[in-house]
Amino acid sequence: MRFFHPLFLIGASASVYSVVNGLNILISNDDGFGTANIRELYKAMKAFGHNVYIVASVTNQSGTGGTATYTQYRNLTADSEFGIVKKGAPSIGTDPNDSHIWYFNGTPSSCVQVALDYVLPRYTNLTTFDLVLSGPNYGWNLGPFLYTLAGTLGATYTAVGRGIPAIGISGGYGVQTPYYDVNTTTKAGLKDPATIMAQLSANIAQQLIESVAAQGGGPLLPLGYGLNVNVPLITSFKDSSCINPPFIQTRMTGGADIDYANYNETTGLFSYGNLVVPGTNQCINGDCSLPGETEILNVGCQSSVSVFTVDYDAPIGGACKSGPNVRSLLQPLVQYANSSVLVGGLNGTAVSGTNATVSSPVPTASITTISSSGGMRVSASSAALAVGLLMILI
Ligand SMILES: *[C@@H]1O[C@H](CO)[C@@H](O)[C@H](O)[C@H]1NC(C)=O
Ligand SMILES: *[C@@H]1O[C@H](CO)[C@@H](O)[C@H](O)[C@H]1NC(C)=O
Ligand SMILES: *[C@@H]1O[C@H](CO)[C@@H](O)[C@H](O)[C@H]1NC(C)=O
Ligand SMILES: *[C@@H]1O[C@H](CO)[C@@H](O)[C@H](O)[C@H]1NC(C)=O
Ligand SMILES: *[C@@H]1O[C@H](CO)[C@@H](O)[C@H](O)[C@H]1NC(C)=O
Ligand SMILES: *[C@@H]1O[C@H](CO)[C@@H](O)[C@H](O)[C@H]1NC(C)=O
Ligand SMILES: *[C@@H]1O[C@H](CO)[C@@H](O)[C@H](O)[C@H]1NC(C)=O
Ligand SMILES: *[C@@H]1O[C@H](CO)[C@@H](O)[C@H](O)[C@H]1NC(C)=O
Ligand SMILES: *[C@@H]1O[C@H](CO)[C@@H](O)[C@H](O)[C@H]1NC(C)=O
Repeated sequence: MRFFHPLFLIGASASVYSVVNGLNILISNDDGFGTANIRELYKAMKAFGHNVYIVASVTNQSGTGGTATYTQYRNLTADSEFGIVKKGAPSIGTDPNDSHIWYFNGTPSSCVQVALDYVLPRYTNLTTFDLVLSGPNYGWNLGPFLYTLAGTLGATYTAVGRGIPAIGISGGYGVQTPYYDVNTTTKAGLKDPATIMAQLSANIAQQLIESVAAQGGGPLLPLGYGLNVNVPLITSFKDSSCINPPFIQTRMTGGADIDYANYNETTGLFSYGNLVVPGTNQCINGDCSLPGETEILNVGCQSSVSVFTVDYDAPIGGACKSGPNVRSLLQPLVQYANSSVLVGGLNGTAVSGTNATVSSPVPTASITTISSSGGMRVSASSAALAVGLLMILI
C-alpha cells in the first residue's frame, strides 16, 4: 500500500526509506548523459543517501540494443548532446559540473563496460556497484522484441551478465529534453514528468534494497536476474490524471508487439509495422498466470514490473523431462557430451530407406538411431542423405 501514499509524490519520500542507504549505484541509459530523465533519477537515488555514478553515452543511442561499440577516436568529433561537452574534448570524461557524471562515446552496453572496467577501478574506491539502473527511457520497451532491441535494456542485461543486479526503466513520455529544462512545477502546478518517473524508478530500486536489508543483506537480486519496468505516460504537464501509477507484477510475453517489414509499393521502401503474433507471446518460462507488460500498459495508468534472467535456455525435454521434446528432434546427430563414442557431425546419421518427409506442424523425421554400441559409423552416402534431411528441417 505504501506506494500509493501521497508523500511519495510531494518530496518527502527520501525520509521514508532513509534507513537503508549508502549503496554504490551506477546509472546509464540510451538517451545520453544530459537528458532530464537520467539526471532526475541520479538526484532521486542520491536523495535516498546512496553513492551514485552516471556513465552514459555522449549522444542519443536509441535502438542499439546490446551492441557494444568503442569509439576509435580519442577525442569527440562533434559536440555532445545539448552541447554540454564540446567537440575535441576527450571521448571519455566527466560533466563540467559533477565528477560523478561521466560520458563516453559508445553504446549503452559499452558504457556499462567502461563504467565497470575503467571508471570504477581508476576513479572510485569501489570494488563493484551494488545495482545498475538504466533509464528512465523516453518511450516504452515492452515485450521480448523490444527487450533485445532497446539500448536501455542492452545496458541492463549487460550489467546482469556481469553479475550485477540491474533494472531497466522506460516511460511513455517520448520527448528527450535536457536536464537543465526540468521545471520544479509544470503549468498544471505538478512535478515535471521526469521528476515523477525518476521517483517511481527510485522507489522500485529502494523497495529491493529495503527488502534485501530486512532479510539480512546480500545481492539485491539472484545472480543472472534483472527487472524490466515500464511506466505509463505521466500527465503532469497537463493534469493529474496519471501522476501516481501503481506497479503491477507482469511478464514480458502477453500482447507484445514485434516488427514487420511494411513495403510501400509507391516508394519501394520499407517502414516498421507492428504485429502481435503467437511467436512473440508464447509463455515458456516464468509465471504464466501473470498479465503481459504490454497488456498492463494498455490498461492505462499502471506500471509493469517484469522479472527476467539472462539464461536464455529453454526447457527441451530429454534427460531433464521438462518442456516439449525438442531434444529427440536433434537426435542422434546431436549427442550428449558424456556419450562414450561421439560421431562426427559431417558423417551425419543413417536415414531409413526413403527420403525423409516433414509433416506440419511438428517435424517427425524418420531417423534411425545409431547402434547402442555407439561404435558404428554411418556410410558416406547416408551422410549425404542426412545433410539433405537437415536442409528440409531447417
Ligand atoms: C534518438 O534516436 C531515436 C532513434 O533513432 C529517435 O527516434 C529520436 O528522435 C532521437 N532523439 C533525439 C533527441 O534526437
Ligand atoms: C584530445 O584529447 C587528448 C587527451 O585528453 C588531449 O590531450 C588532446 O589535447 C586532445 N586533442 C585535441 C586535438 O583536442
Ligand atoms: C554547469 O556548468 C556550466 C559551464 O561550466 C554552467 O554554465 C552551468 O550553469 C552549470 N550548472 C548547471 C546546473 O548546469
Ligand atoms: C579514495 O579514498 C581515499 C582515502 O580515503 C580518499 O582520499 C580519496 O579521495 C578517495 N577517492 C575517491 C575517488 O573517492
Ligand atoms: C519549463 O518552463 C519553461 C518556462 O515556462 C518552458 O519554456 C519549458 O518548456 C519548461 N520545460 C519543460 C520540460 O516543460
Ligand atoms: C506510400 O508512400 C507514399 C509517399 O510517401 C505515401 O503517400 C503513401 O500513403 C504510402 N502508402 C501506404 C500504403 O502507406
Ligand atoms: C549424460 O548427460 C546427460 C545430459 O547432460 C545427463 O542427463 C545424464 O545423466 C548423463 N549420463 C551419465 C551416465 O552421466
Ligand atoms: C531422395 O530424393 C532425391 C532427390 O529428389 C532423389 O534423387 C533420390 O532418389 C531420393 N532417394 C530415395 C532413397 O528415395
Ligand atoms: C566421417 O567423415 C570424415 C570426414 O568427412 C571422413 O573422413 C570419414 O571417413 C567418415 N567416416 C565414416 C565412417 O564415414
